[in-house]
Amino acid sequence: MADRQFSAFGSTEPLFDPKGDRIRWCCPEFVDDAGKLTRILETARHAGASSGVSRISLRAFSDIDLAEHFRRLIVGSGFRIEAVIDPGRTDGCRMTYLGWCGPGRQDHDTDAEAERLLVKSVTSQRMPEIHELQQEVDAQEVFDLVDYTGKPFAPSDAADLVAMHRQNFPRFPYDFEQKLDILRQQPETYLQVVLRSRLDGKIHAFSNLELNTVRLSDGRAFVLAEYDNTMKRTDARKDHPTVDGTGRMVRLQLARLAAARGVDFCYSESRSSLVAINRISYQIGMHYGGKLLKHLLISGETDIEYRAPSRFESMNIWFFETGRLASLIQAALSQPCQ
Ligand SMILES: CC(C)(COP(=O)(O)OP(=O)(O)OC[C@H]1O[C@@H](n2cnc3c(N)ncnc32)[C@H](O)[C@@H]1OP(=O)(O)O)[C@@H](O)C(=O)NCCC(=O)NCCS
Repeated sequence: MADRQFSAFGSTEPLFDPKGDRIRWCCPEFVDDAGKLTRILETARHAGASSGVSRISLRAFSDIDLAEHFRRLIVGSGFRIEAVIDPGRTDGCRMTYLGWCGPGRQDHDTDAEAERLLVKSVTSQRMPEIHELQQEVDAQEVFDLVDYTGKPFAPSDAADLVAMHRQNFPRFPYDFEQKLDILRQQPETYLQVVLRSRLDGKIHAFSNLELNTVRLSDGRAFVLAEYDNTMKRTDARKDHPTVDGTGRMVRLQLARLAAARGVDFCYSESRSSLVAINRISYQIGMHYGGKLLKHLLISGETDIEYRAPSRFESMNIWFFETGRLASLIQAALSQPCQ
């Protein structure tokens, strides 16, 4: 499992995140009755109370719709069902995000409405077909897609990536240079793709997927793949007229790599306030799963101007559905990554 400090996934034990003032927990106990769910919620509340946090974020696995079967139990314990990932190819097993937020960590109505409208506008467009996405990748003549998984970044590439990260995220919860070292040391945990320009040899876009296997109490094991650190150069537009869409391409390529690895849940937690990342998630074929309320602290840079004083940001869940990801594998076979 990934180094916790840098992990997008977190932990299968309740984990205190002091920067985010929250408890995170991906609970491997398979939920099939009210008693188990009650114990899980109590354990989460206990962890929250003993750390004094303002948020608890819990993921639970079940074959049934928790909202349909246990809504009263969940609401009664102060939690809300915030998002659901039902990818389809997991014998009906879905991953449900349950969240609790303290009184000082609620949504401001105006922000919530702006974020809702963003998702509405993104998903009201037609989702492109796989062959259209493939055409877009084929049509790009200026860039090479490079699978960097398990390879050490050349020093100049590492420097480019660190500079690009700083451009995009002036403030960030962890040191990105250290993260690059970890990516290289743990090829079994991370997949990375870069888009390199043939004109100047520089990296123009980057994305990373973190892989974790969760073994449930009923014996099943699922591979989870979570997107992390998607970004592109912000200063390249003049020399590279096709720079738009480069983030979409690297994410798409990573989805193919994930599918080829037999990933069960492929998803992202994307900041609810940012237009581009939500647009491209839908444009590469992901479905909207819900919103994690005031989930964490990132850089504070937003497209939507928040009215509330809270610095915490909400995150939208986007996920791939089985059939679509399988189609992506077919598309990948026609154009393998370098
Ligand atoms: C996420 C990112 C890699 C996507 O790159 P990309 O695939 O080239 O996509 P673009 O940035 O061109 O934008 C995607 C879409 O959002 C639109 N968009 C971007 N910013 C916008 C804004 N502020 N307001 C309205 N629309 C916006 C673009 O017009 C485009 O729409 P279209 O495809 O319908 O034309 C890139 O935007 C980026 O580096 N962002 C900063 C880092 C970041 O936020 N990463 C995600 C962390 S959660």
